[in-house]
Amino acid sequence: MTLWHGRLESGMAPELAALSVSIQYDIELAVDDIRGSHAHVDGLVAGGILTDPEGSALHQALDVVAAEIADGSIEILPEDEDIHTVIERRVTQIAGDAGAKLHTGRSRNDQVATAFRLWTKRALVETATSVLVLQEVLVERAQAAADLYLPGYTHLQRAQPVLLAHHLAAHAWALGRDVDRLLASHERMDVSPLGAGALAGSSLPLDPDGTAAALGFKSRFENSLDAVSDRDFVAEALFDIALLGIHLSRMGEEMVLWTTEEFGFATLADTHATGSSMLPQKKNADIAELARGKSGRLIGNLTGLLATLKGLPLAYNRDLQEDKEPLFDSVQQIGLVLDAMAGMYATATWNAEAMRAAADSPSGAAIDLAEHLVAQGIPFRQAHAIVGGLVAESLSSGVDLVTLVSQHELLGSEAASLLEPGRPVANRTTAGGAGPVVVADQIEQLDAHIAAERARLARFV
Ligand code: ARG
Repeated sequence: MTLWHGRLESGMAPELAALSVSIQYDIELAVDDIRGSHAHVDGLVAGGILTDPEGSALHQALDVVAAEIADGSIEILPEDEDIHTVIERRVTQIAGDAGAKLHTGRSRNDQVATAFRLWTKRALVETATSVLVLQEVLVERAQAAADLYLPGYTHLQRAQPVLLAHHLAAHAWALGRDVDRLLASHERMDVSPLGAGALAGSSLPLDPDGTAAALGFKSRFENSLDAVSDRDFVAEALFDIALLGIHLSRMGEEMVLWTTEEFGFATLADTHATGSSMLPQKKNADIAELARGKSGRLIGNLTGLLATLKGLPLAYNRDLQEDKEPLFDSVQQIGLVLDAMAGMYATATWNAEAMRAAADSPSGAAIDLAEHLVAQGIPFRQAHAIVGGLVAESLSSGVDLVTLVSQHELLGSEAASLLEPGRPVANRTTAGGAGPVVVADQIEQLDAHIAAERARLARFV
């Protein structure tokens, strides 16, 4: 029997049922839908629409259904379109006439929006928690990296040496913005749509403020049309995850490079690498590649939903059923990637010699030579040209840069000492820069920032 058997004489054609059905994935919303129903029942009792015994019968029936869903014994019938239909049908079987009153003053439109918001709030907290774990791994590795340095790159050409700690912390700061975005989205979506009905509210004495508070929402909707048609919260969550996925993709790409024989900066633990089915010598960075690959899918989930939303008139349209699968998928996939990346970073080893050898090329100190000249009052553009000329001469003549610098009338042996291994990175002394003194400050800040976000997160659960 359909929910609308009074109005439409026949049941659904099989091809309509096949297209319409969403129970195969929206069963994910069961816990939240039942929670929403408990609050709705309390609202109906408070408004005098249900008697106390009816309310109790409904609460008990909802508990039975929750247990049946949890242990998998719930029976799903072919005519059960979605999880909301299943729960209402089963509650009505258990509670009889009281069950038939469950949907009073409520539409699936406000019901599904409520359940999905509850689900999404929880998912964002879980995702943010996993991001924090990865950040903590990066900070631990940064602290343990001490004074180890490697080349910093622009245009993927060696530019200036940077501390490995600085490099790892750069990723951790980006992830920190992801945590902040996830929690900001959570705060914005913390609005209950329950009580909006199909689109216009109700003639019955419902209590949307009471149900919002009972469900832990910060407030209720202000406009019933907006309440049932708004999927900004889904789009925002998908964006937050897509951008997080892009950060992880960039980190993955970097680890793919670092573990090549060409770079040789890092070695993955055997537990966090794969081999080849054919080539016996291979060791592959599949976690990093999957992080890179999954980001395409996460972007697709976002753009797919945006396209679904763009032409919709107010208020609810069935198109909105297409909101769930992309978010369920993005949340699941980002969780897998975050956990695997945390494990990969925790267990990788750094090849200090390869990092240092690549960073110690004297031209990595070219800017220090130019700044040495600037300290003598030479305009920077001129200093740049002098040092650039020496680098070019060294390359064309084969005479090493140290010799040319030592012999140069404006530079000499003091300047040549700037080219000694380790000097360039030690000379990066400005706040937020790549040298040991300021990086130590930075890591302290990062540590404190992560601890503060952990405390903030605890207030969300
Ligand atoms: N499964 C549907 C969804 O997720 C439930 C809402 C159906 N509402 C309606 N008016 N037909 O959107």
